[in-house]
Amino acid sequence: MQAVNLLPRDIDVPPMLRHGEGAAVKLSHVSRSFDGNRVLSGLDLTVRPGEFLSIVGKSGCGKSTLLRLIAGLDKPTSGTVTVDGKPATQAGDRLRIMFQEPRLLPWASVAENVAVGLRGGPDPTSVADALAAVQLPDKADFWPAQLSGGQRQRVALARALVSHPGLLVLDEPLGALDALTRLTMQNLIRDMHAKAGFTAILVTHDVAEAVALSDRVIVLGQGGILSETQILRVGPTTRGSAELAAIEAEILDAIFAA
Ligand SMILES: Nc1ncnc2c1ncn2[C@@H]1O[C@H](COP(=O)(O)OP(=O)(O)OP(=O)(O)O)[C@@H](O)[C@H]1O
Ligand SMILES: [Mg+2]
Repeated sequence: MQAVNLLPRDIDVPPMLRHGEGAAVKLSHVSRSFDGNRVLSGLDLTVRPGEFLSIVGKSGCGKSTLLRLIAGLDKPTSGTVTVDGKPATQAGDRLRIMFQEPRLLPWASVAENVAVGLRGGPDPTSVADALAAVQLPDKADFWPAQLSGGQRQRVALARALVSHPGLLVLDEPLGALDALTRLTMQNLIRDMHAKAGFTAILVTHDVAEAVALSDRVIVLGQGGILSETQILRVGPTTRGSAELAAIEAEILDAIFAA
């Protein structure tokens, strides 16, 4: 494992969701096999409350499998996965998931789609706050079909965060977006994480994205964690800086060495 110090972050925090308590995630000796083929093998991982962790690795190495276990959508063949000390399958409202596709209801308005994230039924103030946080305050009455791809993904982010989850799990959430929209969304996710305090676990193919957003990046491969990089941020980081490029190069080396 290596730790890297970076320059101060340039966080421009918009008014948004209230500060929440991040969830603690713990995986102990987790293995997952499919029809006898072992994808994950005796994996141990602890994610501290409020941490932003990214998982990178070659296609097919088990990133989505690992994320599904953390999200309680699947159970390990052996080992345990807990969120705040309870089985991940019981995390309920503490946990929200975002995928590559926004998965909005086409027949419901933007506001109604965001309200889906609230268990206690529609709450116009919370929905309006969440839409303001993702910078779509004027789109509440639009249909999903009237939005751009990036705007739809922002609605999905508002839906995920409207209930103030302790854990946000993201599987390639920006994978389908163009490069510019992707950068805007990265800044939004980073700022919302800094402000709202949830724990974030992100799977991405984009090593630059992982480095730009995370406190820690792990490389997954051969059933386990191949390398781990701590990124200690004491202030704004400049995209494209030599320091960031060097971290990215080392993570890429670890991926390709697998
Ligand atoms: N439900 C399943 N049944 C059988 N095999 C599965 C199942 N889910 C995943 N696998 C296998 O587990 C391995 C890891 O898949 P996974 O989707 O976790 O990879 P990934 O790292 O997310 O890949 P990508 O970067 O392409 O999304 C693959 O070989 C896949 O075929
Ligand atoms: Mg995947």
